[in-house]
Amino acid sequence: MTDFPSFPPGFVFGAATASYQIEGAVQEDGRGPSIWDTYSHTPGLVANGDTGDVACDHYHRYPQDVALLRELGVGSYRFSIAWPRIVPDGSGPVNAKGLDFYSRLADELLAAGIEPAVTLYHWDLPQALEDDGGWRVRATAERFGEYAAVVAEHLGGRVPRWITLNEPWCSAFLGYSVGRHAPGAREGHGALAAAHHLLVGHGLAVQALRAAGVREAGITLNLDHHLPATRSPADEAAVTRADTLHNHVWAEPILRGRYPATEEDTWGALITAQNFRRDGDLELISQPLDFLGINYYRPIVVADAPHRESDPARRVATDNRYEEVPMPDVRRTAMGWAVAPHTFTDLLVELKEQYGDVLPPVHITENGSAEDDETSPDGAVHDHDRVAYLRDHLTALRAAMDAGVDVRGYYVWSLLDNFEWAFGYDKRFGIVHVDYATQRRTPKDSYHWYRSLIAAQRR
Ligand code: FCB
Repeated sequence: MTDFPSFPPGFVFGAATASYQIEGAVQEDGRGPSIWDTYSHTPGLVANGDTGDVACDHYHRYPQDVALLRELGVGSYRFSIAWPRIVPDGSGPVNAKGLDFYSRLADELLAAGIEPAVTLYHWDLPQALEDDGGWRVRATAERFGEYAAVVAEHLGGRVPRWITLNEPWCSAFLGYSVGRHAPGAREGHGALAAAHHLLVGHGLAVQALRAAGVREAGITLNLDHHLPATRSPADEAAVTRADTLHNHVWAEPILRGRYPATEEDTWGALITAQNFRRDGDLELISQPLDFLGINYYRPIVVADAPHRESDPARRVATDNRYEEVPMPDVRRTAMGWAVAPHTFTDLLVELKEQYGDVLPPVHITENGSAEDDETSPDGAVHDHDRVAYLRDHLTALRAAMDAGVDVRGYYVWSLLDNFEWAFGYDKRFGIVHVDYATQRRTPKDSYHWYRSLIAAQRR
């Protein structure tokens, strides 16, 4: 008999996806282009030239996907809204057909007894806004606030949990510093402005959500647990820089209304030379939240390293004097990511120590693993490694709760195999296998395991 970790009554089990990764139908019902359409259609940027044009065809197959969720027994489903379906040109007219799609989805979920949890921005910025400067400019944050108001007014009464941004670190730094995500810019300075404007956009969206009277508003950060390669002071200092950039540059403004004292060592004169931070921004950014969403996948081991970039204007983000080194003696997922579940406990416990009472209740809004799944002749997918990953991370999460961290929910990433950004369809994170040629969905062993874990809580 399998032993499942047990969670307190009311703990929310969920599954997560994101619009561009599953929907397809990119030209349907008035949707405008997003930066991910442009990026994925640029030769050489995404593995195999994959695009989200069809993806899992969820736009048409959502009733079937909601049925999978119902059968799974989750209490909540986290999905994101494609901004270019709602405001195809980034500003100006609202597209009623786009709103209707999410309205139908929300109703289908509610009818299945599943609470919708909406992410307003999971990276698919309307291309028109990128053409006007993207997140480098403040106007994009203002447009985001307006879009949030439209969506919240339409869906606010039916959607209890709202996430403004997903992983703004990725949007700012992968998008504008190293170009590994859309819009593919490699700019240094641009990424710092983007980081701040994303936070301003978050603040404006929270205002819009409050005005619409939603039950819970929060944000999702990809907080990382960094470990030093050695106990040398230089490597310990590298950990501080990495923690600053990945975690505190986001969590401190949001939770404490200030940028971290360590940012100068991380970014130096780059930050003081900027004029994009305005009086009053930090008050906007630090409005009280009902929860903090955290996405966690893996620990990162860092070592001190010299600047690789000689141009000071580009020294940002991935070039602030540390480099990632492999963690020894651990299994790696198909992403090459180290599997070390105890670091999940450590991250959460340290976060509680660092932020204390200003840390709101936590929802784990993503956790999961990409594995080299094989379909057996009977059609089943025996993804033992993913089952072990999920079991061990849920056990580690429970340990953090026992140590006093207030965690209210857990969303597995992902319901479906899907478009994994620059890796295209090569990397499969789903607990449901998708055959992209036929769009056939097959629940994997991990789906059945998660279903049993959820059912076991009710006993
Ligand atoms: C996170 C993203 C999500 C997915 C997982 C694997 O960074 O939020 O869309 O790609 O990683």
